[in-house]
Amino acid sequence: MTCNRRTFLGAMGGAMIGSVLAPTGALAFQQESKPFSWTPHTLDPKACAPVAYDGYWYNGYGCCYGVFYGIVGMLGEKYGAPYSQFPFTMMEMGKSGISDWGTICGALLGAASAYALFWGRKERDPMVTELYRWYETTAFPLFDPGGAAQGVKGAVPPHAGGSVLCHVSVSSWAHATGNDANSKMRQERCSRITADVCVKAVEIMNAKIGGTFAPVLAATKATEYCGSCHDKGKESPIVKGRMDCTPCHGGSVHVQDKSKNHP
Ligand code: HEC
Ligand code: HEC
Repeated sequence: MTCNRRTFLGAMGGAMIGSVLAPTGALAFQQESKPFSWTPHTLDPKACAPVAYDGYWYNGYGCCYGVFYGIVGMLGEKYGAPYSQFPFTMMEMGKSGISDWGTICGALLGAASAYALFWGRKERDPMVTELYRWYETTAFPLFDPGGAAQGVKGAVPPHAGGSVLCHVSVSSWAHATGNDANSKMRQERCSRITADVCVKAVEIMNAKIGGTFAPVLAATKATEYCGSCHDKGKESPIVKGRMDCTPCHGGSVHVQDKSKNHP
């Protein structure tokens, strides 16, 4: 019998199943701590806001790091381990919608990541949805660092981008307010939004811990209407995701609106 790659791998596989890789039904790697098992503590959102803001500017680590540090870093400062042992710089990747791709706003990624230390999907999803819907509709920024501003002092023009995506959030703000998306003003905007998201995220977390969390922002007009046909189990179940549909299928000259030709 000739030994080609396939028969060789087959023989190897057989040998391995008999020894090292016997299928036991268990994962080879088991997490040391129980899943989602860190203990959450309430925090003072007012105290977290400037920490998140400074975290944005610290070594240029950005929004995702800022929000995450504003929550988990604060827990580390107050309670020590295990919070203080988290490799916080890992969260730097969320900056600019993950490696400058402009996908999810890193501030929101930071908050959802912090939640996931404490709560599994079933409990976490409504918290994330509450935060993300609030983000879609809020005219940012709200936080004003005053004299402690690190980019631009004074007012930053607010705008509601309608989307959790960094790309839509930043670009629509830049267009609406006449700013350059690469300017110091844009950085100042995002650093203040980092504080805003941290405050809201902590409020939601505090309510969750206190047993008073009651989500109110589950759907939008568009997700409700469009979802009546495009959601799971409906007549055209071809749509994935909970984002508001309007910024992308809203029918302006710049965004596609195939839905005009609806059946
Ligand atoms: C009354 C039911 C219904 C509602 C409400 C509805 N859709 Fe649709 N939509 C359909 C059906 C059926 C198709 C065809 C799907 C296919 O071809 O598989 C479709 C197709 C589409 C398409 C691609 C085809 C095209 O060119 O039209 C887009 C984009 C779309 N819908 C977006 C939306 C958005 C956005 C909304 C909310 C503003 C929405 N739909 C609301 C039933 C609906
Ligand atoms: C961030 C922008 C964005 C958001 C938000 C968004 N879509 Fe889309 N959607 C797109 C793009 C881009 C495509 C791909 C279009 C294509 O291939 O022509 C698409 C495809 C679709 C399609 C398949 C039709 C096709 O022609 O490929 C449907 C149906 C659809 N979207 C409905 C929705 C609904 C309903 C919502 C809200 C629940 C929504 N979309 C939210 C950007 C978006």
